[in-house]
Amino acid sequence: MGVCLSARIKAESPCNTGVNSKIVSTDGNLSTSSKVSSFSAPPTPRSEGEILQSPNLKSFSFNDLKMATRNFRPDSVLGEGGFGSVFKGWIDENSFTAAKPGTGIVLAVKRLNQESFQGHREWLAEVNYLGQFHHPNLVKLIGFCLEDEHRLLVYEFMPRGSLENHLFRRGSYFQPLSWNLRMKVALGAAKGLAFLHSSETKVIYRDFKTSNILLDSNYNAKLSDFGLAKDGPTGDKSHVSTRVMGTYGYAAPEYLATGHLTAKSDIYSFGVVLLEMLSGRRAVDKNRPSGEHNLVEWAKPFLANRRKIFRIIDNRLEGQYSMDGAYKAASLASRCLSTESKLRPNMDEVVTALEQLQDNEGGQGNASNGQRMRRRSADDAIRAKRAAADDANKAANKSRNTVAYPRPSASPLYA
Ligand SMILES: Nc1ncnc2c1ncn2[C@@H]1O[C@H](COP(=O)(O)OP(=O)(O)OP(=O)(O)O)[C@@H](O)[C@H]1O
Ligand SMILES: [Mg+2]
Repeated sequence: MGVCLSARIKAESPCNTGVNSKIVSTDGNLSTSSKVSSFSAPPTPRSEGEILQSPNLKSFSFNDLKMATRNFRPDSVLGEGGFGSVFKGWIDENSFTAAKPGTGIVLAVKRLNQESFQGHREWLAEVNYLGQFHHPNLVKLIGFCLEDEHRLLVYEFMPRGSLENHLFRRGSYFQPLSWNLRMKVALGAAKGLAFLHSSETKVIYRDFKTSNILLDSNYNAKLSDFGLAKDGPTGDKSHVSTRVMGTYGYAAPEYLATGHLTAKSDIYSFGVVLLEMLSGRRAVDKNRPSGEHNLVEWAKPFLANRRKIFRIIDNRLEGQYSMDGAYKAASLASRCLSTESKLRPNMDEVVTALEQLQDNEGGQGNASNGQRMRRRSADDAIRAKRAAADDANKAANKSRNTVAYPRPSASPLYA
């Protein structure tokens, strides 16, 4: 693990490997609020005691979770982030005590590292928000553990892991996602974000990225990780002032520059993720040739030109999409990435655009219903060549570069 990997670092720090590095600036407070009403009421701050009293959540003992994960066995690690490691575990559906692997309810147990930068504040934010919100496109928090120095979160297990793994991880289990599935995941994630932004919740998510989009067995997308979520502005306020936090490559430029947070910051992050899905490239990838490290900077000139839009589309999607569908999806990404935040659509508009895209393409984005398919062209040949050169470059860089991104090695856990 590189020094700065997945750790919260100062925004101005030069130690940014470009792989999921976190950003954080100086001071700020966690604001928590009650979100049970269906109208827009001013947020009522809740005490830690109130948050932990949530009737929707089970309070587990550390020992329960130790047994459920077979003593946090290294071979049951599902993934690792800035907060700590995530383990697979099993509990009995009635008693909620540890069950034999393969029986009862399957869990994902996130355990806070003692040295984590993210700490208690984010643990509590997660319990606060996910203890109140229920939506098909948000991951379900089953419970938590707060015992001595231990902080754990217990989620429903998401059998297909994160979108990040499906887009960027090579291996036999994580096959590249098809165009149809990418559009389905984009729509699911958009619905989750639209729910958070809606008038009854009014929450800014602040950490929209591929590793926080989890997939169930049918590729339904669910948002996880509410550690950075914030209540949106109330009354006539246009923004919330915060310390700058998030992940490199996903944060909106005006938020990075001013710390002024609005729902439009999430829309920008959505645009980055949509672009990652369309291109199969990471938001920040220092292993790419210079000029291509930052996905948005690299892709913007292509997005602005109807004829060039196809140059950014993942060549693993060849033959799966219609020209019209690709153009519409790329245009949507482009609007979300507008430098001027007011020009970005809101999440309801994004959902509508993605729904229309699926309808037009025949249910689930099937491009075969009479629409013109993308054919191989001279551009494609150039792109394929460039991709091959990139891969060769990457392989060479990898052997030179000792930075390792901690990822689960045992893919069969996702089954
Ligand atoms: N409920 C879950 N079911 C299955 N796998 C999960 C679940 N929650 C997390 N994971 C796996 O664990 C990985 C790590 O998750 P985590 O949220 O701790 O870190 P991250 O999102 O990669 O990074 P960050 O700390 O920056 O948010 C995820 O990418 C995913 O692969
Ligand atoms: Mg996460």
